[in-house]
This record gives sequence, C-alpha cells and structure tokens, in this order.
Amino acid sequence: MSEATTPRVAVVTGAARGIGAATALRLAADGYAVAVLDLDAEACAGTVAAIEEQGGRALAVAVDVSDGDSVTAAVAAVVEQLGAPVVLVNNAGITRDNLLFKMNENEWDSVLDVHLRGAFLMSRACQQHMVEARFGRIVNLSSTAALGNRGQANYSAAKAGMQGLTKTLAIELGQFGVTANAVAPGFIVTEMTAKTAERVGMSFEDFQAAAAAKTPVRRVGRPEDIAQAVSFFAREEAGFVTGQVLYVAGGPRG
Ligand code: NAI
Repeated sequence: MSEATTPRVAVVTGAARGIGAATALRLAADGYAVAVLDLDAEACAGTVAAIEEQGGRALAVAVDVSDGDSVTAAVAAVVEQLGAPVVLVNNAGITRDNLLFKMNENEWDSVLDVHLRGAFLMSRACQQHMVEARFGRIVNLSSTAALGNRGQANYSAAKAGMQGLTKTLAIELGQFGVTANAVAPGFIVTEMTAKTAERVGMSFEDFQAAAAAKTPVRRVGRPEDIAQAVSFFAREEAGFVTGQVLYVAGGPRG
C-alpha cells in the first residue's frame, strides 16, 4: 500500500477523552487522518485541537455507537469529509456497576449495547471500506475485567464478548487484508476509574495507590500505555498478527 495513493483514515470511538483521546492523538502522530467520534461532537473539540496542534488532521463526528442509524450516518460523514476508513478502534464504553443481585436489566442492556452492539455496528459499517481497500485494521478495547470482576457482571461479559468478536472478525476478514485484535487494559487513570473510586467510597489517589500496589510493575496505567498497543496493531507491518488479545496491565492479568 502506497501512502501517496491511498488515503489513510482512522476512526476512534469514544475519543473525546481518556484512552480514546490518547489513541486518536497517537494515530494522528502515526500519520492517519483521524475521525474523533463521541456522543457529542462538541466534546471532541479538545482532541481535534490537540491533533491539529501537532500538525495532524482530525474531524469531530457525533455518534451513539449503540444505534444503527447513528452509526450509518457517522461513518458516511467520515467517508465524505475525511475519506474511507482503514483503521477502526472500538473504544467507546460505559460502566453501570452493581452486584448481580442488585443489577437491573437496564444496567445489563446499556453496557452490552455500548460495548458489544456498538463494536458490531461500527465494525460492520467500516469493514466494507477496508475490504474494498484490501487493507484494514480493527482494534477492540477489551479489559482485564473479561477474566471476571466483582460488581461488573455486565461489563465483564461485554469485555469477554469483545474477545470473541475480535477472533471471529479476524477469521472472516483476514482474506481481505483486514486484521482484528483486542487490547485488554488493566487499571488506567481516566474518568471511568475515577467514577469507580467514587462508587467504592475511596479518594482517587488512594484508589490508584491500592491498584499500583497490586500491580507487578507497581504503577497504574496511563491512556498513552494503551494508545501504544493500539498503534502497534494498526501498523501495516503488523499484518500477520490477528485475532490476538494483548493484556496491557502492568502484569499478566492486571
Ligand atoms: P472514559 O469514560 O474516560 O471514556 C469513554 C468515552 O466513550 C467517553 O468520551 C464517552 O462519552 C464515550 N461513549 C460512551 N458511550 C458512548 C456511545 N454510546 N457512543 C459513543 N461514545 C460513547 O473511559 P476510558 O477509561 O477512556 O475507557 C475507554 C475504553 O477502555 C472503554 O471501552 C473501557 O471499557 C476500556 N477500558 C478502560 C479501563 C480503565 O481502567 N480506564 C480498563 C479496561 C478497559
């Protein structure tokens, strides 16, 4: 694939902040024009500005990844304004934690809808452009929670589901030059983990210190730690790596 003739466009969902924003910045630094997708286009302004400041090209697009029509419209806007996407990072996510006996159906459905249905809808919408280009990279955000996590029956099921989805995408799309891999982060400092600290009644500092103490490398993760791993899977040279799950957790299981 020649960079001069093939537009290289990457789509990152949930990129207004946290891991998605760091990933969008990293892919821009790698040379991609980046579509910064999130629920509210205005919330993406910071990420877009940061990319433009470092000399890159970015576009803010509103999407609810769990909604089919919204996904169709968002991907069409990306194609029209930036070009056909060849990289997709399914990063958008929410938590609705509760112990199983207290978890209601809405908490279950909303988490499964954003992570799993969202990744399915976005992957289905983007794959046609990758297949046409005979090149594509799909990276899904899983989690160490896929291995089980108290208070997260919904989230851990969704994150384990992301791994199964990834492997099937790898099998179906490999013949078209499209790889699919998953990154499974451990504890990363973002608004998501700040919210968890609040839920368990700890200060965010104490919560981070406790997580670092349990982690072999003795620190918590940063969004850039995850962006690095996504960047690797998105590389053209990583074309023989597919269907894999990389735990980026400061230890074998975080
Ligand atoms: P975050 O809460 O800081 O950011 C998530 C972003 O997704 C937000 O900007 C939010 O508006 C967006 N979003 C939520 N629902 C959406 C929807 N329906 N459509 C479009 N955008 C939507 O979260 P963080 O920590 O940056 O997490 C990013 C991903 O990494 C998530 O999939 C999360 O489950 C995963 N992850 C995070 C870990 C952590 O420790 N922070 C650990 C393991 C996985």
